[in-house]
Amino acid sequence: MKKHFDNHNAIRLKYENEGVEGFYSKHADEYQNPHFEYIRQLIIQNEHHLDYTKGLDFCAGNGEVSQVWQELGYKDFVGSDCFTYNNYEKNFNIPCLKYSFEDIIKGNFEFSHKFSVIICSFAMHLCPEKWLYSLTYNLLEYSQKLVIITPHKRPQLENLAQIALTFEDFVLTQKGKKVFLKIYEKALNTF
Ligand SMILES: C[S@@+](CC[C@H](N)C(=O)[O-])C[C@H]1O[C@@H](n2cnc3c(N)ncnc32)[C@H](O)[C@@H]1O
Repeated sequence: MKKHFDNHNAIRLKYENEGVEGFYSKHADEYQNPHFEYIRQLIIQNEHHLDYTKGLDFCAGNGEVSQVWQELGYKDFVGSDCFTYNNYEKNFNIPCLKYSFEDIIKGNFEFSHKFSVIICSFAMHLCPEKWLYSLTYNLLEYSQKLVIITPHKRPQLENLAQIALTFEDFVLTQKGKKVFLKIYEKALNTF
């Protein structure tokens, strides 16, 4: 039976004890996002100004983002997750990419095409700060917009050189906490 890691503190404790990689290597099958409804709400309420026709669900988990795209009728999407790709493949019956943050940063990846959007939900805060610039920049080579869904202040990609926060939205959880949807793009040269 699946265990539900139903609050952030429980997950944070496990990250502390086992490390992020250790946690996901051991518990990939048990992962469930208790905030899925907020992810769904944010993706749906921003459909009018985001292009979901060729999406990459980066750090896909079980494919929470892909599930919403599917519900909205989109078919041309793909997930990537170096730990939970089995779950994703089971859920969608399509191959899942297996790229880690490290792979993207080091250029050890190959996308066969550009994406209309890349969404990284509840995951990029797990990437060490010192890697964020390369990760963000390399992802933005493959999509004009990188969308971050997060209940945290991090990742603050707006602090990175050449990266601009171009839109922000949020929904409130039942406990009154904000879950954000943030759109990042390469900043235009101003000279
Ligand atoms: C909290 S889950 C979020 C999953 C899903 N996107 C969601 O919104 O529920 C974080 C995800 O980040 C992935 N992850 C952890 N460390 C990673 C790394 N170094 N590189 C890429 N993905 C990683 C995990 O496998 C996990 O699926």
